[in-house]
Amino acid sequence: MLNGALIGCGFFAQNQLHGWAGCDGARITAICDRDPQRLAATGERFGIARRYSDAAEMLAAEDLDFVDIATTVPSHRPLVEMAARAGLHVICQKPFADTLEDARAMVHAVEAAGRRLMVHENFRWQSPIRAAIEAVRGGAIGTPFFGRISFRSGYDVFSGQPYLATDPRFIIQDLGIHILDIARALLGDVTHLAASTTRINPDIKGEDVATMLLDHKGATSVVDCSYATRRTPETFPETLIEIDGDTGTLRLEAGYRLTIQSAGAEDVRDLSPPLLPWAERPWHNIQESVQIIQQHFVDCIGQGREPETSGRDNLKTLALVEAAYASAAARSRVALA
Ligand SMILES: NC(=O)c1ccc[n+]([C@@H]2O[C@H](COP(=O)([O-])OP(=O)(O)OC[C@H]3O[C@@H](n4cnc5c(N)ncnc54)[C@H](O)[C@@H]3O)[C@@H](O)[C@H]2O)c1
Repeated sequence: MLNGALIGCGFFAQNQLHGWAGCDGARITAICDRDPQRLAATGERFGIARRYSDAAEMLAAEDLDFVDIATTVPSHRPLVEMAARAGLHVICQKPFADTLEDARAMVHAVEAAGRRLMVHENFRWQSPIRAAIEAVRGGAIGTPFFGRISFRSGYDVFSGQPYLATDPRFIIQDLGIHILDIARALLGDVTHLAASTTRINPDIKGEDVATMLLDHKGATSVVDCSYATRRTPETFPETLIEIDGDTGTLRLEAGYRLTIQSAGAEDVRDLSPPLLPWAERPWHNIQESVQIIQQHFVDCIGQGREPETSGRDNLKTLALVEAAYASAAARSRVALA
């Protein structure tokens, strides 16, 4: 049994603590938040008595195997480096870092300590999306040459996460990062990217619409994201996928309906995710993915292998975020290193 501590008891950490309670082979034995009210409320809610307002104090006092960092981005690098110095495996929430320099430093720190680092990049672990990824990787539609990965919604994300309204970067950094990661998982690494962004909501600081064109090796994809799209039915928080391959097509449509057409045959599946006992609609697909990615981390530690969504892997997703902002600002296509 791995013993872990969670740092950051905010909005999303509640899902992470529920997820850990359902994971085999790991448990959370201590929590930390510098906000005493959030710390107390979360400790009471999940029956965790070992509580700290200071992460360094917690790592010095507790006997741990890993930390799960659920804070917002400014604290990620110092906390990851602190955990590496303590010789712990680490999970860090997305966005992993504000800059690639910070991200590389975190990867280096944990690798130098001989431990595993996973970014909590959970969207590619949503079970309907995972089924699409596995079908494409398994050759169900031959060699893919086109993809569209789309997230369009009018959902008010600012009430639960007020910091999203004030950051100069919004949709690409917060949500597009997941959708770009799905594009990588489906179609492989990216050589060039062109992005166009705009802000429709006058009450926020950053962009709430982004349209991106990606060249992968052998395929092209469109990644389009919007939090300004008012439509019925509202599809939040579903990611919709279309992939064309040289022998067939795959569609993941609203309502978690997966259709694969190949060689004259059609396979239609209802991939509605289960509603876990602690989950609530419409978030249940994301909540399920939290438990799946945590189990993946625990299994990787046990088997001595690198998580699929490792810190090192996430450098490539983060590079797409940087490229998208650079492309939108310069109104030009950007080459990835
Ligand atoms: N993967 C997903 O699907 C998903 C969804 C929502 C949010 N997130 C990510 O989760 C992260 C947290 O988001 P949130 O909305 O829960 O934020 P939040 O502000 O609600 O919670 C963060 C908490 O961390 C605490 N904190 C910050 N720095 C600390 C430090 N150094 N030591 C101890 N406590 C510290 C704060 O007091 C706060 O309670 C963000 O990076 C966000 O992008 C991911």
